[in-house]
Amino acid sequence: MLSRTLLLAGRLASAATSQQSVSTASRAVEPLNSLLHKCSFATNSTDIFNVHKDTPENNASITFDFTEANYKIVKDIVARYPPNYKASAIIPVLDVAQQQNGGWLSLAAMNRVAKFLDMAPIRVYEVATFYTMFNRTKIGKYHVLICGTTPCRLQGAQGIEEAVTKHLGIHIGQTTPDGIFTLGEMECMGACVNAPMVAIADYTKGVEGFEYTYYEDLTPSDIVSILDTIKKGGKPKPGSQHRSKAEPAGAVVGDKWVPKEGTMTLSGPPRQPYCRDLNA
Ligand code: FES
Repeated sequence: MLSRTLLLAGRLASAATSQQSVSTASRAVEPLNSLLHKCSFATNSTDIFNVHKDTPENNASITFDFTEANYKIVKDIVARYPPNYKASAIIPVLDVAQQQNGGWLSLAAMNRVAKFLDMAPIRVYEVATFYTMFNRTKIGKYHVLICGTTPCRLQGAQGIEEAVTKHLGIHIGQTTPDGIFTLGEMECMGACVNAPMVAIADYTKGVEGFEYTYYEDLTPSDIVSILDTIKKGGKPKPGSQHRSKAEPAGAVVGDKWVPKEGTMTLSGPPRQPYCRDLNA
């Protein structure tokens, strides 16, 4: 996160410098806002998700409580920890609160979690604003999280991001006007072997129906058709879009899936490990 902050600061600094020199030279410059949109960062590292500002839907006068079914779930979670370590349950309990609350943690939800775990509210706010899986602002029904780590980046994640931003008309951290999709970025989600990939969190069905689905081996047209299917209420194929698991059947190259002949990645028998002649 620090490196991303430094990267962003560096880009802003260089933008400020270029603005200065450009204005001297009377040339058009790119506004800082558009530069921000071009920077990649995890969704929650932007102030819109971390800085609390009272809104009609998120202020201290709004109440939140767990439903009866979810209250049972959070009680079961807390029972896994020693009674004097209830605070250790904070992440899974916040997760339940977020799922019940349509994908984000309001002030009321965080305060309810603090009360439930006998914690000072500030300690709950610290956790909720630190971890990128918690959203502090209302989001869309589906949270589209593009993997932005090196293996996915090398396999074309940038093209996936461009296809999504163009198709939905939003940038990372924004929600479509119809409230269906919010776009975000995550770091490695452990599916690098099938890079590039996107995870989509479905907050439409509460805690019982919550789904967090991986879509892998994506080409730009794959992700566009996945988003269209979701928007129409359909269920896109999860996992790899082109092979059954992670067998060496091909790879995404540019904007296409290129199949590979055969079932081996080796072009010949593997060489034996080197062993020196002990008698020499
Ligand atoms: S780098 Fe994208 S899943 Fe690991």
